Amino acid sequence: MSADHATAQAGSAFRASLGVLRGRAPHAADCAIDTLFTSESGRLARLSFELPGLYLDISRSRLPLAELPGLLRHAEAAGWRTGRDRMFAGEPVNRSENRAALHVALRAARAMPLGAGGADVMPGVMETLRRMRGFATAVRDGTHRGAGGAPITDVVALGIGGSSLGPQLACEALAGFAHPRLRIHFIASVDPAAWAGLRPGLSAPTTLAVIASKTWSTAETLGNAEALRAWLLASGVPADGLHRHLAGITARPDRAQAFGLRDSTLFSFEEWVGGRYSLWSAIGLPVMLSIGADAFDELLAGARELDEHFRDAPLERNAPAMLALLSLWNALGLGVQTEAVIPYSHPLRRLPAYLQQLQMESNGKSVDVDGTPVDYPSAAVTWGEPGTEAQHSFFQALHQGHALQPVDFVLVAPPPGAVSPAIVTLLANGLAQAEALLRGDPAAATPHQRCPGNRPSTTILLDGLRPRTLGALLALYEHKTASLGWLLRINSFDQWGVELGKRIALRVEALLRSPELPLPEDMDPSTAALVARLSATLPRGS
Ligand code: F6P
Repeated sequence: MSADHATAQAGSAFRASLGVLRGRAPHAADCAIDTLFTSESGRLARLSFELPGLYLDISRSRLPLAELPGLLRHAEAAGWRTGRDRMFAGEPVNRSENRAALHVALRAARAMPLGAGGADVMPGVMETLRRMRGFATAVRDGTHRGAGGAPITDVVALGIGGSSLGPQLACEALAGFAHPRLRIHFIASVDPAAWAGLRPGLSAPTTLAVIASKTWSTAETLGNAEALRAWLLASGVPADGLHRHLAGITARPDRAQAFGLRDSTLFSFEEWVGGRYSLWSAIGLPVMLSIGADAFDELLAGARELDEHFRDAPLERNAPAMLALLSLWNALGLGVQTEAVIPYSHPLRRLPAYLQQLQMESNGKSVDVDGTPVDYPSAAVTWGEPGTEAQHSFFQALHQGHALQPVDFVLVAPPPGAVSPAIVTLLANGLAQAEALLRGDPAAATPHQRCPGNRPSTTILLDGLRPRTLGALLALYEHKTASLGWLLRINSFDQWGVELGKRIALRVEALLRSPELPLPEDMDPSTAALVARLSATLPRGS
């Protein structure tokens, strides 16, 4: 069979099974969750998962068990299994860029060839980890010092999107494991206010800047890198000692070298690591600097255990696949357009921001893998804030608003032994909110007080917040995201949509800097008026 024929056949099997689901889901999802619990024996056992480092419960959903076979059939027809296996095999699953998405190799413990007959990527992965370990250990134990001989006290991590969100989340989540001397700061925004806010608290002789950019072409990161370098020099770091204060992470070492970075503090990764899947690569260096190489290994091990589950578990017991099937079901059956993530854990407060990029940059597409427009919903909007704060802001709408907005409650079991009473309050609130969404208060005295209930939610209970459990949590969401892409037949590994805005920003910036330039005829009147208004206020040559 020709490749074209095979693709067409896969496409038609996908459309047929999706059509069946679209027909059934709105009726079947019109059900009461508490009735499902009483009428379906074994529902909780069937829809909960004991995973390495965490427990997952998707039973509080409007998914009747009788509908599971249809969903599983769709997964097979859509090519979920083939997609997963091709991803692990290093095949170019990112078709629009003809690239593999082999982030699982970054935490693997065995040979991982890059496609059939391809070279094993593990020697390169291990070599980078070895170099990262050496550098991180030297900074942490004070062997690597600033040009003036002082140990490093502050790491300023520059990067944006996937080159920042994962490390930010991990450094905050694992602050309990942080080196006592090292403070890790993140700057992503191009707004100079971010750097200006940080600068007064820094001393150049003890500051290390870690510049992270896969492409080494991202305007925000390169602009901030220039500002940092200029500050180091202006603060007395000699040009020939600059390399002791600058490290780089990139898939384009040639460009980082041209920027002036030395090989000894340059850490690279490969094009087959997508930005939002890159925490496990050299991009994780700020995390390793903070928590140390052994703890970073634990983070990788937690992700690896989840990878093994994803690779080996049968579809109906495959947690990431089931999470993705539930998202699909909620979209088709309940018209769900958003998914909230509420971590009941202050250290996990950046989880929603991290998942926004992971899920929306991956699956926010409206053409399929062949480039054909799709007429079904792709990524839901991911959003959220930590609990209990969120309960006092937008939970009103979750309980009584018109739209159904499923919630992922992420809870952390406290370590055995003494527990602060406040942690019990925190956990009680997480459990209570999920129950309140389910139970509602339909018999309340007035319509204003009535909560309809029957609102679905998912619960993830981490077995403590440690590098290993964090690794498992993030890998769970990574594989849910890729699984949803296969279920929807879209490419979860490209992000062409962000390019247009970058191009237009360059054009607008040129106009703002040079008001004498004529406004392009194809510019819309609203933008043109704003450009004219702003450029009139900007000093010439700014
Ligand atoms: O603009 C979006 C994006 O391309 C993300 O996919 C990526 O994580 C981020 O920018 C940063 O890119 P880079 O690491 O190349 O600077």
